[in-house]
Amino acid sequence: MSLTPTQDDRFSFGLWTVGWQGVDVFGGPVRPRLDPVEAVHRLAELGAAAVTFHDDDLVPDEATRQSELDRFTKALAETGLGVEMATTNLFSHAVFKDGGLTANDRAVRRYALTKVLRNLDLAAELGATTYVLWGGREGAESGGSKDVHAALDRYKESMDLLCGYVRERGYDLRFALEPKPNEPRGDILLPTIGHALAFIDTLDEPERVGLNPEVGHEEMAGLNFAQGIAQALWHGKLFHVDLNGQHGPRFDQDLRFGAGNLRGAFWTVDALERGGYDGYLHFDYKPPRTEDVDGVWETARACMRNYLILREKVRAFRADPEVAEALDAARVGELAVPTLAEGETLADLRAQTHDPEALAARGLHFERLDQLAMEHLLGVR
Ligand code: GCO
Ligand code: MN
Ligand code: MN
Repeated sequence: MSLTPTQDDRFSFGLWTVGWQGVDVFGGPVRPRLDPVEAVHRLAELGAAAVTFHDDDLVPDEATRQSELDRFTKALAETGLGVEMATTNLFSHAVFKDGGLTANDRAVRRYALTKVLRNLDLAAELGATTYVLWGGREGAESGGSKDVHAALDRYKESMDLLCGYVRERGYDLRFALEPKPNEPRGDILLPTIGHALAFIDTLDEPERVGLNPEVGHEEMAGLNFAQGIAQALWHGKLFHVDLNGQHGPRFDQDLRFGAGNLRGAFWTVDALERGGYDGYLHFDYKPPRTEDVDGVWETARACMRNYLILREKVRAFRADPEVAEALDAARVGELAVPTLAEGETLADLRAQTHDPEALAARGLHFERLDQLAMEHLLGVR
């Protein structure tokens, strides 16, 4: 089995991930600034296929905008790395303290929208096909300060305007909303996959908008990520994914993929591989503050390696004849059979006799199946 990533594996990294300098609420930077050009070269050497960026990661300064873009596109050409996704920083600057697209202050919303539009042009120019919107500051700390009804009206207004813009410009871009329950705001709008899916249905062009769920964000809400993305896939809405690690409901840990909830990661890879997801495998994590620059590259390598290890484990699990037997015993395949037979009516169904006591006596043998998964994951099969 090859655990060395290649561009065919379609791994990608945000510039802000390996570039995270370790600034948190309790302390300043622990690492020097990482030049995006250096990030492109190192990630290409490690086997990644693409990078992603916020406007401010790549072009933080108006005066150097063009020269930075020239250096960056040259690095892409030299390495063969692509840009697959871009997004807007609508959270760092103090102007966004009450959000961007849903800030109470209308002038802030108007500025936020122009910031997104400008970076959409750049995203299209660099060949990105997904544009992420993570509304980290779209929310509130206290009930009275945010009219949720009006905020959702404004969110919808923004998304409709952005979809119209992309359509008019003829950009090959789809939007992906990234849910998160809290942090940095006390409570964030569109906090989970389910909330965001329901919101997308209200948009003027729902087909242009899907999701970018993140492992840690759903787990912060105590939810099962694999089940969440399976539902997003069922709706045809898994446009992108943020892979990382998290230890249950606490602050957003952004650990490297595979750390934290390892069993969750196994089922996440299974859901992606079996569910027909064909997008990029994007890592959105933060190398811990304990790491120096070498440690950063170690974590980037580990994200990809852990995905490849888990992909092998999942494939072996699915190919194991004993697993096939256990799946049968657990009647897993039977769930794909419609409850009524073709042509059968509800009256036909009601005319039949049912024996709930006999049905209740049947065991489902799920534990045997799960133990087999556990043994594959633990490497003893
Ligand atoms: C977080 C988020 C961000 C977003 C990124 C893209 O919790 O910090 O996951 O990393 O993914 O800003 O919009
Ligand atoms: Mn996160
Ligand atoms: Mn993310």
